[in-house]
Amino acid sequence: MKERVTDAEIIDQDEKKFDLTLRPKKLSEFVGQDKLKEILSITIEAAKQRGEAIDHVLFYGPPGLGKTTLANIIANELAVELNTSSGPAVEKPGDLAGILTNLNERDVFFVDEIHRLNHVVEEYLYPAIEDFRLEIVIDQGPSARTLKLNLEPFTLVGATTRAGLITSPLRSRFGLILHLDYYSTGEIKKIVLRSADLLEVEIDDEGAFEIARRSRGTPRIANRLLRRVRDYTQIKGDGDINKKIAKAALKMLEVDEMGLDEMDKKLITTIINYYDGGPVGLKTISMAIGEDQGTIEEIYEPYLLQKGFLKRTQKGREITERAYKHFKIDPKKNSSKDLFEK
Ligand SMILES: Nc1ncnc2c1ncn2[C@@H]1O[C@H](COP(=O)(O)OP(=O)(O)OP(=O)(O)O)[C@@H](O)[C@H]1O
Ligand SMILES: [Mg+2]
Repeated sequence: MKERVTDAEIIDQDEKKFDLTLRPKKLSEFVGQDKLKEILSITIEAAKQRGEAIDHVLFYGPPGLGKTTLANIIANELAVELNTSSGPAVEKPGDLAGILTNLNERDVFFVDEIHRLNHVVEEYLYPAIEDFRLEIVIDQGPSARTLKLNLEPFTLVGATTRAGLITSPLRSRFGLILHLDYYSTGEIKKIVLRSADLLEVEIDDEGAFEIARRSRGTPRIANRLLRRVRDYTQIKGDGDINKKIAKAALKMLEVDEMGLDEMDKKLITTIINYYDGGPVGLKTISMAIGEDQGTIEEIYEPYLLQKGFLKRTQKGREITERAYKHFKIDPKKNSSKDLFEK
């Protein structure tokens, strides 16, 4: 698959390294998500005063918005260890037992992509997070025994981009369910300035704004665009980033002024060209563009909805006037009814 600069997911190993260097370590360094930060900070302070583990936390929201970062921040603020795993990595109940029995009091167990835990492991997780005990069946047949283990009180932090795929028994066991939303351009601009500082690149306000508004409200994309613009100015400019050089670099990278990519264009123009701009059902769209319904709903649509290019109505998805304008399509000329009537 072609690499997209506007992909919100990590695209290569190099980026993984940068993600680490640019990752805020304290809640106070974490830009935006103010409501969520306030809830977390109160929870953390209160638990610290009582010397207890904090409630289990579930973070959900699109990729690249800071879920993993927040899990790290929680452990850091509590001055405890963070043990990281992911849904598909915990294959057997034994794997889970191995991790949980090694946790110290108040430690954080971070499970990324928690919606991908298999159901056997998930069943074992319930008593572990509810009462900090684990019951493991050893052997099979007549010699089968249950081993009961007591665990230290710990905090489970789960992260998912697909909240809809989390089972309700699991969801109900989280004390805090926190949603991460896209960042405003102003917030992303702050992140760009902070990252530029860490990378020791000179950037002015307007340069940061040009990057910010193309970043789809996503810090990971902002950091990636910043790095690409940095490379560009090193070769084509004097190493500093201003409005002019940022614009030229981003033009070369073919990122549109709203940060829309090919998939967004495909989704919108398909609805316009084949369904008169909607309303059209999700299932139909999914078949027309060859993407899974859940992926469309949870990965592609949120940004388009937030930017007002798409509307969700009772009858289905509808394209807005704003989208017609952005893609410079005349709504009247583009009706498929016209094609039939001609
Ligand atoms: N609020 C923020 N302030 C500053 N930087 C941020 C913020 N949120 C995220 N970042 C930056 O964006 C990068 C991506 O964030 P992170 O890895 O936490 O996203 P994620 O939600 O876990 O994504 P995924 O769903 O792909 O796992 C981080 O390395 C960090 O540098
Ligand atoms: Mg993550």
